[in-house]
Order: sequence, then structure tokens, then C-alpha cells
Amino acid sequence: MRNNWIPEIEAALHQYLAPPQTAYRRAAEAMAYSAEAGGKRLRPTFVLEFCKLASGDPQKAMAFACAVEMIHTYSLIHDDLPCMDNDDFRRGRPSCHKQFDEATALLAGDALLTRAFETLTDAPLSPEQIAKAVCVLAKCSGINGMVGGQVMDLQNETEAPSAEILNRTYELKTGALIQAACMLGVIAGNSNDKLLEDAREYGLYLGLAFQIIDDILDVSGDETLLGKPVGSDAANGKHTFVTVYGMEKSREMAAQYTQKALTIIQAYPDSESLTELTRELLVRKY
Ligand code: IPE
Ligand code: IPE
Ligand code: MG
Ligand code: MG
Ligand code: MG
Repeated sequence: MRNNWIPEIEAALHQYLAPPQTAYRRAAEAMAYSAEAGGKRLRPTFVLEFCKLASGDPQKAMAFACAVEMIHTYSLIHDDLPCMDNDDFRRGRPSCHKQFDEATALLAGDALLTRAFETLTDAPLSPEQIAKAVCVLAKCSGINGMVGGQVMDLQNETEAPSAEILNRTYELKTGALIQAACMLGVIAGNSNDKLLEDAREYGLYLGLAFQIIDDILDVSGDETLLGKPVGSDAANGKHTFVTVYGMEKSREMAAQYTQKALTIIQAYPDSESLTELTRELLVRKY
């Protein structure tokens, strides 16, 4: 997957997360360890691409982009903990709690969450834009967003979800933060309500497609390419799109959601790179 934004995103992240020489350096190192381990940098890329779509300056959206990646990294650290998915590898390295310890991983996740909001306020944008971004990111990350979805995801281990519940789980656990990324880009670009609504809808469909592909890769992917264990969902007895609909139907559904996402952005000039990324995500191997 080609993504020209990665070097700039990683340089900015590195600046925001440089561990200070303090007594609590260990958790700061854990934050940087997980955030700087690589990854596709998809969510910050959506921030920058949607800012471009809104005719804004992506450089001014870089703090928003880093903030979303911090929340995402925190969600991964906690997701891997023994009390959740219990996975020992992430982004090609030992998971945070394996490299450090559980308490440090917990605190590093907490600190990434709060550092994200501090980072939003560093954007060279108006107080109104920053306030809007805080509101969107908080809602999409919290109990009515990603955290709520993670709660449902755990419930889907003990109880077989209805089609409606399964969709809602994915909209929240994965879709919500992707929606936030797209919307933050539009907010940074100071664009109109129509594009903000389109960003929300694109994020919803892309998020669903993205999580369905993640489930497929958990069954049929290559661990070395993925940088995380395959078979994690099965080991946890989790009901996913793959267990509910089967591989083939899941692929079809991911393709349909991707098409819906594509239709939304195709109307905009300057959407070529986003269109290409959206298509690539459907056939991704990691
Ligand atoms: C993994 O996200 C967690 C999901 C929501 C499926 P990514 O696949 O974007 O992980 P990284 O950031 O590339 O490591
Ligand atoms: C993760 O879903 C969603 C998050 C909010 C972190 P998964 O549990 O399937 O993600 P991976 O497969 O561990 O990356
Ligand atoms: Mg999980
Ligand atoms: Mg997991
Ligand atoms: Mg998964």
C-alpha cells in the first residue's frame, strides 16, 4: 500500500511523544514504543486527505492527525491486554504489555488518550475548529463510539449477536474512530456541513469494510505481513462477520461497503488519492 504521508506523520508523532527524562519515563517509553512501531497510519492519513478534499492545508491538520493516531494506538494497547484479546504481538513487535508489563501498558494507553486531546489544542487553527474537533473525537472514542464497540465486541464472545448487533459493533469499535478522522480533516479544512456529513458517511462504510477485511485476515492472513497473530478471534471464540456469514459472503459485503464509500467521495475534485487508497484497502494483505 503506497502512502506518501507516512514520513511526515511519523516525524510529527515522534515530536509529540519524545519521552522526557523524568521519574515516569517508563510509561512515556511505552507510549512511544507502541506509537512508533509502524502500522499503516490509516487514520491520520484520512485526516490529511479529507482536509485536502475540504481545500484546506494538510500541514495545519497534522496535530489532529497525530491525535487520532494516539487514540488508535491506545485502543490497540488495551485491545491486546490479557483481559481483552490477549495477543502477544502487535505491529511486528511484542505487544506493549509483553515488552513492558500490564500496569505500564494500561497507563501508557491512558496517557495516549489524554495526550491526544492535548495535541488537538496544538493545531494552528481557530478555537472554534479545535473545540469542534475535541467534541467529535471525544464522542467517537468514548462510550458512544470505540469503547462502546469494544464492550459489544467482548459480549459477542459469550453471545451470538444478531446481524444488527454485529453491524453496530463494527460501526462503533472500528467505524467511529475512522469517522472521527475523516470529520477532523473536514473541520481542519473549515469546510461546509455537506462535506462533514459525507465524511461521516464515508467513514462509516469504510470502517465496516475495514473491520470485515480485518476479520478475514485473522483467518487467512500471513502473520509476518500482518505483524499480529492470526487466529486470535477463533482463540477467543469471537463471533465475527466470518463466523456469521462465511468468508465469501464477508468478502462480498466488504466490497459492497467499499463501493458505497467510493460513491460518496467520487463527486469531489482532488479525491484521486483517497479513491486509490479506498480501493487498495479492500485487497490489503496487512
Ligand atoms: C487494527 O487497525 C485494529 C482495527 C480496528 C481493525 P489497523 O489495521 O489500522 O492497525 P495498524 O494501525 O495498521 O497497526
Ligand atoms: C480492534 O478489533 C478494534 C479496536 C478498537 C482496537 P480487533 O481486536 O479485531 O483488532 P486487531 O485484530 O486486534 O488489530
Ligand atoms: Mg478486539
Ligand atoms: Mg484484537
Ligand atoms: Mg482483528
